[in-house]
Amino acid sequence: MVQRLRAPRPGWRAYADTVVVGSGVAGITAALAARQAGSVLLVTKARLQDGSTRWAQGGIAAALGVGDSPEAHMQDTLVAGAGVCDPDAVRILVTEGPAAVRRLIALGAEFDKTADGSIALGREGGHLADRIAHAGGDATGKEISRALIAALEHTIGEIEVIDHALVLDLLKDADGGAAGVTLHVMGEGARDGVGAVHAKAVVLATGGMGQVFDATTNPSVATGDGVAVALRAGAEVADLEFVQFHPTVMWLGGAARGQQPLISEAVRGEGAHLVDSAGVRFMVGRHPLAELAPRDVVAKGIMRRMAETGEPHMWLDARTGVAEFSEQFWRQRFPTILESCLQHGIDPAKDLIPVAPAEHYASGGVRTDIWGRTSIPRLYACGETACTGVHGANRLASNSLLEGLVFAERIGTDLAKRLPWTETPVPVEAGDVHDVLLEPGVMAEVQHTMTAGAGVLRSAQSLDRTAGELERLATRTADAPHLEAWEATNLHLLASALVKGAALRNETRGSHWREDFPDSADRWLVRLAHRLDPATGQLITEKQPLRSADMDGVKP
Ligand code: SIN
Repeated sequence: MVQRLRAPRPGWRAYADTVVVGSGVAGITAALAARQAGSVLLVTKARLQDGSTRWAQGGIAAALGVGDSPEAHMQDTLVAGAGVCDPDAVRILVTEGPAAVRRLIALGAEFDKTADGSIALGREGGHLADRIAHAGGDATGKEISRALIAALEHTIGEIEVIDHALVLDLLKDADGGAAGVTLHVMGEGARDGVGAVHAKAVVLATGGMGQVFDATTNPSVATGDGVAVALRAGAEVADLEFVQFHPTVMWLGGAARGQQPLISEAVRGEGAHLVDSAGVRFMVGRHPLAELAPRDVVAKGIMRRMAETGEPHMWLDARTGVAEFSEQFWRQRFPTILESCLQHGIDPAKDLIPVAPAEHYASGGVRTDIWGRTSIPRLYACGETACTGVHGANRLASNSLLEGLVFAERIGTDLAKRLPWTETPVPVEAGDVHDVLLEPGVMAEVQHTMTAGAGVLRSAQSLDRTAGELERLATRTADAPHLEAWEATNLHLLASALVKGAALRNETRGSHWREDFPDSADRWLVRLAHRLDPATGQLITEKQPLRSADMDGVKP
């Protein structure tokens, strides 16, 4: 029984060789690269610049510096990934990364420079070398997004863009291969409402799924649409339990929901301290690196201190007098964060910043091989939507923009090899279809129950309670399709898979922390992959090898 979002029948049609869904670093790079394989149509949920990329405050990591090497970058990435990276994918990331960054510079991206004109390379948590390139101090994502959109606009006529369009489901041909997508356009004129794009290949690059939780650094469009589309189409999705919670997200009150302002790890890198309301530096003694311990350790440290003190948040002290911080330093090094603090009535040079952990990055997603290919022929995924295996159980800081670039370009290469010899697939109606749609109000309840039971600290009991709550929410079906209902349905599906993976993985590893299983166990050196059983519509979860090269599931 194939699951599909309840939606009106397509009222319009469009055609392209490749349809790319998403317009962050991965989506635009994939669209530019896919031109070598024919016509390209890029679909984006809001405006081109509205995805997660432009919010990235950290930088882009690549072994560009004297004395650094891809091997050293690989080693740091593997350590962060806590034993469950795919080493083949990591090797590709670190060896192809430097050239991919140089191509980005050739496209027009401008990174911060040193006095001699070379790229200024900084260091972030987990990196043992200076290899992080930044732009505009703390506005790297914004600059990369600007440069890629400008490059896209220069391809006049080569890439068609449909904006304000939510992808609904995958179209498949009689052999089960991708044949396009259905989507809903909030537009005017010929392409308004639900339509179908017929294509030889589909690339999913819809970003993360931060909206599964109450508070996230992801923008409101990050409802994991691409991962949900892939699951409903029968593709494999893996590593969903590995959710990275950023420790220092500005706390805006207990009722704050959705995207919250990020206070980059780089602020702690410059010497800012975490304190409780009594001024105690509670990370000292919890880890040798104190505030600069790995992100998951700091996030847990904050959660534990909040529980010990009964306070709803901790504080970040980055005031004048703490390390290098001065008003001028704030303006030069962290202009974006300064602006966002001031907008919320906090002058970080004088005031403490209230912070608490919030969802930041999904290390898992649609399982791919090293060419971005999923378990469905001609369906590709890249960026945060994909699980290439480079992040393992914990993404190394500033590896995500790089992953988006490198693997999107590889998809272009694969498409160029295959599409010219591929007949245009004809979409067919699936025989036994189950239309799904949940009430829009389910979204807030999913977020609430996920935050309470499947957040930073998890246990069998909390996950069991969350799974029960998700089952109850599954009965709140709706008849009238519209944006919030589709998004709620997607989030519910992803939350169900995430909780199942987190409950099965009876160990603590990387960003997955089980209070009842505080140690890692070698029997969990596997990937947990989920897919929807076409017969029952239920989630099937199985252990798979870590290397995509070792598995049967991902097929060319
Ligand atoms: C940060 O700047 O703290 C976030 C960077 C990243 O997620 O890589």
